[in-house]
Amino acid sequence: MSQAALACSSVTEKFEKEFSTSRKLHEQASELFPHGVTHDLRYLTPFPIYVDRAEGAYKWDVDGHQLIDFWAGHGALLLGHSHPEVVSAVQKQMAKATHPGACHELEVEWGQWVQRLIPSAERMRFVSSGTEATLMALRLCRIATGKPKVLKFAGHFHGWHDFVLPACDLPYRGAQTPGIPRHFEPVIVRPNDPDAVEQALANDPEIGCVIIEPTGGHFGQVPVRGPFLTALREITEKHRRLLIFDEVITGFRVHPNGAQGHYGIKPDLTTMAKILAGGLPGGCVAGRADILDFLTFRPGQPKMKHPGTFNANPLSAAAGTTTLRLVSTGEPCRRANELGQRMRRQLNEWFARRNLNWVAYGEFSGVKLLPNYDGPRPDDDTFIPYDGDPDRLEPEKNVPFIHAFRQALLLNGVDMPGLAGMTMSAHSEEDIDRAVDAIGSAIEMLK
Ligand SMILES: Cc1ncc(COP(=O)(O)O)c(C=O)c1O
Repeated sequence: MSQAALACSSVTEKFEKEFSTSRKLHEQASELFPHGVTHDLRYLTPFPIYVDRAEGAYKWDVDGHQLIDFWAGHGALLLGHSHPEVVSAVQKQMAKATHPGACHELEVEWGQWVQRLIPSAERMRFVSSGTEATLMALRLCRIATGKPKVLKFAGHFHGWHDFVLPACDLPYRGAQTPGIPRHFEPVIVRPNDPDAVEQALANDPEIGCVIIEPTGGHFGQVPVRGPFLTALREITEKHRRLLIFDEVITGFRVHPNGAQGHYGIKPDLTTMAKILAGGLPGGCVAGRADILDFLTFRPGQPKMKHPGTFNANPLSAAAGTTTLRLVSTGEPCRRANELGQRMRRQLNEWFARRNLNWVAYGEFSGVKLLPNYDGPRPDDDTFIPYDGDPDRLEPEKNVPFIHAFRQALLLNGVDMPGLAGMTMSAHSEEDIDRAVDAIGSAIEMLK
């Protein structure tokens, strides 16, 4: 066995001992769910941890470990777990009605917050998830333009439905995505290449819209910056195609007005979820009134049919309204972004001090880690490793190593989804400092 494999197996041995109640639950779960999990990202060998409760920046697992959390509810939490005002709003609504089967006052208030905060939101429709939001946005674009195809960027994730799932991971090799017929596939272009977008739109009159994660795929694994977004807006306008900003993760996180507010660029449609619904399920498509009008009943006009049992459900509306009110001050985004920067800076100092071949990078509240790094050390927070080369920033995943790293992190009191995480306004400076030490020690355990 190699030194590296030996180090990993000793970490796994410790992990199995420390998290034994999770192992028992996982044995039961494996009789129910494929791999025993209910979300691909939660898959962890030899077993994932089971969380009992969470508050602020922490979660406690079923074996009683307190963990500093950088999952942030898959990005749905900015204020931290169980923020008292959110909890109280949901409890109050719970006692009034969980599903009135009717329009209700909170959906109006929720929509007003979205309209106030998101610059391009002339009209909107609530759905139940980010996946539903992008599904709706694409269909609206097809109706509005009469064109069937979408252009998306390699490495960008827009949910798991058939029209956007292909090429969501890099390096993209063009293989067929299991279960998705080739004719559903989007037109795929590498990110940060305006000429390639221009060429694709000029050559293919069937492309009706372009969808993008406005800070880069997987919340900036391969960063996208303002100049590319500006070019994209100009190119789509020139070729009369629609532009969708998928702000499911950036919305209310990078800035109270989303990435579009931060960069001052107005897309035609915006998809949202996660923080929008304050940690409960919920999503939204917002944008130009003339496009959202295809949801209205108008004689002689095409109408997009849109039922959905839990659209604008009042519990999500209660959590969402309270969260957006708190986010609107700008303080939670400012704080989470500042802590993200602190974490990236301190990690890079740690790596330099110990001469580790790792680098941390990212923007806003996103923290990305890149092992086996052989480029120059960052000199400031705008730094992008390997000049943003997608193939080097998102190499083939070494799953056994990533799982061993996650186990080592958990043993050191930190829960993070692999080589990336997110800060929340609930983290303290001390949490960040402790997490940096924990990440550094986890890397050393695996050396
Ligand atoms: C940018 C982006 N779009 C869409 C989705 C899908 O959202 P959901 O998981 O709510 O379906 C995600 C989820 O991570 C996302 O990050």
